[in-house]
Amino acid sequence: MTTKQLSVASECAPFVKTGGLADVVGALGGVMGAHDVECRVLLPLYRQIAQLAEGAEELLDAGSLFGGPVRVLATRASGIDLLLIDAPHLYDRPGQIYLNENGLDWADNHLRFGLLGWLGAEIGRNGIAGWTPDVVHAHDWQAGLTPVYAQQSGGGAPCVLTIHNVAFQGIFPATQMGPLGLDPKGFTQDGFEYFGQVGFLKGGLMLADQITTVSPTYARELMTPEFGMGLEGVLAARKSRLAGILNGIDTATWDPGADPALAQTYSSRTLGRKAANKLAVLEHFGLEADSAAPLFSVISRLSDQKGLDLALLALPAALEKGARFVLLGSGSAELELGFRELARAFPDRVGVEIGFDEDLAHLIQAGADATLVPSRFEPCGLTQLCAMRYGTLPIVSVTGGLADTVIDANEAALAVNCATGFQFAPTSAAKLGDALDRAMAVYADRKVWQKLQRNAMKHPVGWDVSAARMAAIYQSLVKV
Ligand code: ADP
Ligand code: GLC
Repeated sequence: MTTKQLSVASECAPFVKTGGLADVVGALGGVMGAHDVECRVLLPLYRQIAQLAEGAEELLDAGSLFGGPVRVLATRASGIDLLLIDAPHLYDRPGQIYLNENGLDWADNHLRFGLLGWLGAEIGRNGIAGWTPDVVHAHDWQAGLTPVYAQQSGGGAPCVLTIHNVAFQGIFPATQMGPLGLDPKGFTQDGFEYFGQVGFLKGGLMLADQITTVSPTYARELMTPEFGMGLEGVLAARKSRLAGILNGIDTATWDPGADPALAQTYSSRTLGRKAANKLAVLEHFGLEADSAAPLFSVISRLSDQKGLDLALLALPAALEKGARFVLLGSGSAELELGFRELARAFPDRVGVEIGFDEDLAHLIQAGADATLVPSRFEPCGLTQLCAMRYGTLPIVSVTGGLADTVIDANEAALAVNCATGFQFAPTSAAKLGDALDRAMAVYADRKVWQKLQRNAMKHPVGWDVSAARMAAIYQSLVKV
């Protein structure tokens, strides 16, 4: 029997994206059909995606909610069924989806995402235009209040809550309970109270029927003080309801054999053609070509999580030895400056582009020899998966999903030919430097490097296994 599922999320690729959350929500919207799950994605109609409203059908006029008129529109785009929350007073704005034009959080983010959870709960309980989900799947703090509002209004479809990143928890002053329409009875340790404030994620974690996170290692890490960021106790208490399900990537979008953003498509049998992409990347950044020198890359949000300050410390030694390096990313002003300075110090060897550019990300994944992901913590990480699919070897710290997806090229793994990249621990500049040295040494032996590339390209990075696990979780929750 088909399971009807409603995803409740603040981002969904390819429409609106700041990171991997969008990729995962978009991918689930597309792949679950093969597992007999019919998905719809409830998403705010931000100004950035206003064009999606053209030709969309109005399913619900919810009247005035959270300070203004709210409607829900339905449309289908890029193979995904969308339910768009049209609430101009909350979403029709300039700036970015979470940040205003000065780079600060929108002051009413609690209302903007409170409404998202409120509608998730409403549709989970009463359905919309005759369609009632069997299960509601809420993502991250922005959708965290979904099970809270559901409980408050007397229940509804069971709720799965996925933690993509516990660093973002949605914590707001207790005075906002009124504007959010939250019943103060829920302001307890067993509810949404979090150290005297309202915790969106905390409340969701207490009340969701099932919690998932995006890799098995992160699921374990989340229950420790080092990684739980204050929620380790809550998660340990709900351990029996916590599952780590590894993310995949959309292998149709990320296909080196058919990617339109590439200078030259290729496969594991035609790896030689990958070189044309390396040349295209070097040319894009105005760097000197040298076939003996590996090209390292980073495609990332520039935030403390990603450990890129360590890359700034470790890279100069590799660059002195001839390596090339390109970075595509944006975020912390300090890191942006640091990488710009690195490019100034090595003008022929380092290229830096500050910004977000989907096509360039694809070209870099194809053109680089190896990609660096030296994260301090990484719930799953998608860039290392994209890299492997493109025969670009990941150099990663041993944490979260990075630990679960990369097989280190140590002696044993090389001997049985199963290595897919390089790992280092602890997460320090010195250990990253050692890993860069190891990668350069292997790169010098092109035969071995090619073996690693083929292993990486063979590694399953799609959704097959995880989508089936997710479908099984939905099934287990659906009341018979
Ligand atoms: P996170 O969600 O923590 O940012 P992930 O590795 O899970 O990290 O996902 C990041 C996603 O965003 C990947 O699809 C990656 O290719 C993409 N990405 C990150 N930075 C950029 C950028 N500057 N330009 C284009 N794509 C980017
Ligand atoms: C978060 C995490 C990242 C994960 C992504 C998708 O942004 O930082 O590790 O891959 O969500 O789940």
